[in-house]
Amino acid sequence: MTREARSGTGMPYEDGSGGASALGDEETLRPRSGTAPLAAPGGPAESCTPEGPDVPTRPARVVETIVELRSQVAAARASGLSVGLVPTMGALHNGHASLMRRARSENGLVVVSVFVNPTQFDDRRDLATYPRTLEHDRQVAGQAGADLVFAPSVAEMYPDGFATWVEVQRLTDHLCGASRPGHFRGVCTVVAKLFAICSPDRAYFGEKDFQQLAVIRRMTRDLNLPVEIVGCPTVREADGLALSSRNTRLTKVQREQAPVLFAALQEARHLVEGGERAAEVIVRRLSEIVHTAPLAVIDYVEVVDADSLQPVQTLRGRCLLALAVRFGETRLIDSLVVEVP
Ligand code: PAJ
Repeated sequence: MTREARSGTGMPYEDGSGGASALGDEETLRPRSGTAPLAAPGGPAESCTPEGPDVPTRPARVVETIVELRSQVAAARASGLSVGLVPTMGALHNGHASLMRRARSENGLVVVSVFVNPTQFDDRRDLATYPRTLEHDRQVAGQAGADLVFAPSVAEMYPDGFATWVEVQRLTDHLCGASRPGHFRGVCTVVAKLFAICSPDRAYFGEKDFQQLAVIRRMTRDLNLPVEIVGCPTVREADGLALSSRNTRLTKVQREQAPVLFAALQEARHLVEGGERAAEVIVRRLSEIVHTAPLAVIDYVEVVDADSLQPVQTLRGRCLLALAVRFGETRLIDSLVVEVP
């Protein structure tokens, strides 16, 4: 895993002012520095941040309706700009920002969607307590070089009578697909809708949610959606904990124990590097290490083929070591790809 950055944005979360404070109507969309024309992606990831230290940033403009977003995208396209989309559920942190910076370096218009998608939550309490921080999100998005924050209401995305779902089979049999029934159906449906609404050239997703990235790649290919899916490395805290919007819900003691996921994955990687090939042994060791954290409750520990996401007995080729662990009501996931010759 690449350790790309080691801390959060340093910006405090602001509790749901919720008020979408779109800039004035007279505000026209100005492409920022570092914008690329259609079909001309920029340099490598992270090599190009749009704003130098002395360039003032402004909060990204908030758009709440599909009609308005489409008209902004159409205007950008008319002036020859390519479009990058970063789908999120908000409570933006530096992991999200890394996706936006990558999008900024490769596109003329960068749209970040902030939508806590109810159809992907299998747990009502998780949905109810999911952090909503739109004002903070505008700031982070602006700082990372995004042009627009698309923050639709639930009614805008799921009007009365909504009855169409997108489901990817097989890749969702295990891992989060098994432990969160219906989750990926909700994810795929909302992402397919976001693609249809925004018609991006490229869309950016984190490898932190490895199964989600694989499922979205599959959906995009299977449905011939004209979008390039770009996977981005996991951003971690200094102690190895993968940044996540849910981390803010951990108590102090839970937070202290949460790096156990990364520690377990590292130890498992060493085992594999030392020649261990039995998935059973790797799973047992991962579980033992997680259990050294008294507050950790394992949801799943699995070793799967990194392409098919089906369990393996013997490690060969690219394999994914994947964990989901609960601390109280907060569920954290992490994973690591190992290459076995
Ligand atoms: P969310 O959890 O907000 O994540 C948005 C994107 O940020 C995802 O692609 C996720 O993989 C990425 N991300 C989160 N934490 C990261 C980290 N530490 N490093 C790098 N990338 C990270 O994933 C979702 O929202 C939703 O399921 C969504 C795709 C938006 C559909 O509703």
